[in-house]
Amino acid sequence: MANVIVIGAQWGDEGKGKITDLLSRSADVVVRYQGGANAGHTIVAQGQTLKLHLIPSGILYPETECIIGSGTVIDPKILIEELDRLEALEIPTDHLLISETAHITMPYHRLIDRASEEQRGTHRIGTTGRGIGPTYADKSERTGIRVVDLIDPVVLAKKLRWTIAYKNQILEKLYNLPPLDADAIVAEYQGYADRLRPHVVDCSLRIYEAIQARRNILFEGAQGTLLDLDHGTYPYVTSSNPVAGGACIGAGIGPTMIDRVIGVAKAYTTRVGEGPFPTEIDGDLGEHLCDRGAEFGTTTGRKRRCGWFDAVIGRYAVRINGMDCLAITKLDVLDDLDEIRVCVAYEIEGQRCHHFPSDAHRFAQCRPVYETLPGWKQSTTGCRTLDDLPRKALDYLKFLAELMEVPIAIVSLGASRDQTIIVEDPIHGPKRALLSSNGVEESGMSSLTR
Ligand code: GDP
Ligand code: IMO
Ligand code: MG
Repeated sequence: MANVIVIGAQWGDEGKGKITDLLSRSADVVVRYQGGANAGHTIVAQGQTLKLHLIPSGILYPETECIIGSGTVIDPKILIEELDRLEALEIPTDHLLISETAHITMPYHRLIDRASEEQRGTHRIGTTGRGIGPTYADKSERTGIRVVDLIDPVVLAKKLRWTIAYKNQILEKLYNLPPLDADAIVAEYQGYADRLRPHVVDCSLRIYEAIQARRNILFEGAQGTLLDLDHGTYPYVTSSNPVAGGACIGAGIGPTMIDRVIGVAKAYTTRVGEGPFPTEIDGDLGEHLCDRGAEFGTTTGRKRRCGWFDAVIGRYAVRINGMDCLAITKLDVLDDLDEIRVCVAYEIEGQRCHHFPSDAHRFAQCRPVYETLPGWKQSTTGCRTLDDLPRKALDYLKFLAELMEVPIAIVSLGASRDQTIIVEDPIHGPKRALLSSNGVEESGMSSLTR
């Protein structure tokens, strides 16, 4: 029995969907613990490409319970569209469960998200426009509508009427938008409730009972460490906690129930939306990575900004998440480069800096210090073991593992399940040890670093 958290170690889109799908093979329960329809997780299996926003990436395994946890925000319209798409493909969905304490994204959340971005002008965050920030803001302000409210027609009508009257004032007076029709929205959401009601459960209790029955639980993060509300590149972040610590709150379990944290990082870096990005590559090379990596947002279709691997944020992600091992994805995207750069430190005001600065202003001033490695100029997409990899690709991976001080357990070389090298068992294999038994600090060890 092992309970593992899978998190994004960069700014999202690291390939969490592919890795979660792979690991779900040995999971009894998969829990999405935060975020909402801003996420876009891609799974390529049996020649089919699935793009999931709210449904956990374990859904292809009919025996695996998939739970949308308490820490998420659910747009029921998008969730039902997703269910319909899966059902049209004859993929069973009755093993999908929804936490009764997750919050519901409403039409006013989407409108306020887009209108506030417009008003921010050059200060915009570059959100997905899916109403995520406003839904979480209502949760904190204690005016949110939860799944339990949605599925009770009397409570829903009462709460929505009051909330819509309040939100209409904001829409009209602050954003100059027409008011919303409360009756129409109540009717629309009661329809969604009827469809979703059979899936609703007490998520925390369900997970606790699964743990007591010694079942394997996988907690699936959305977004990434640098988009974390508390620990990311604030204010250019999302409004939830994608970091591993968020899994306990978002699932309703205690930290003692977690056995392992697996990070997912691309062999380079991407970012969608605004905000500083020290290793961003401008010009032809950036375009080349974007084309080869098909770096267009799964949710919004926006072009992702591309850059070199940043080991400073990598190390930060190892620390903030207590990461035990790492999956490196999209190594194949680097196949035809002459040389590859890795950011090993930053320079700020002439000083070397090895730690991620939490001050956004300072972070924007960071200049990357690079080390350059030779490219391998050879296709890796058909490699299935470390021995199949070109020597220089292996050297690149070793360099990353040593810099981040974490074992690399998985290497991904293409979007489909089989395009993967399992270096070590990511769930039961060696993990990162902070202190050895004699109290001496150890670095990450794996067959890539030994
Ligand atoms: P997520 O949000 O972290 O789940 O990642 P996305 O699905 O948004 O973006 C990752 C993209 O890269 C998807 O289109 C995947 O199908 C694709 N992908 C995942 N792993 C690999 C890989 O190793 N190589 C290549 N070329 N594509 C990959
Ligand atoms: P997955 O799970 C990449 C980014 C947006 C924006 C910021 C805030 O697929 O990795 P939001 O709509 O959340 O208020 O936007 O966060 N963002 C993502 N970037 N992958 C994601 O999810 C993202 N979800 C949000 O682009 O910069
Ligand atoms: Mg994505």
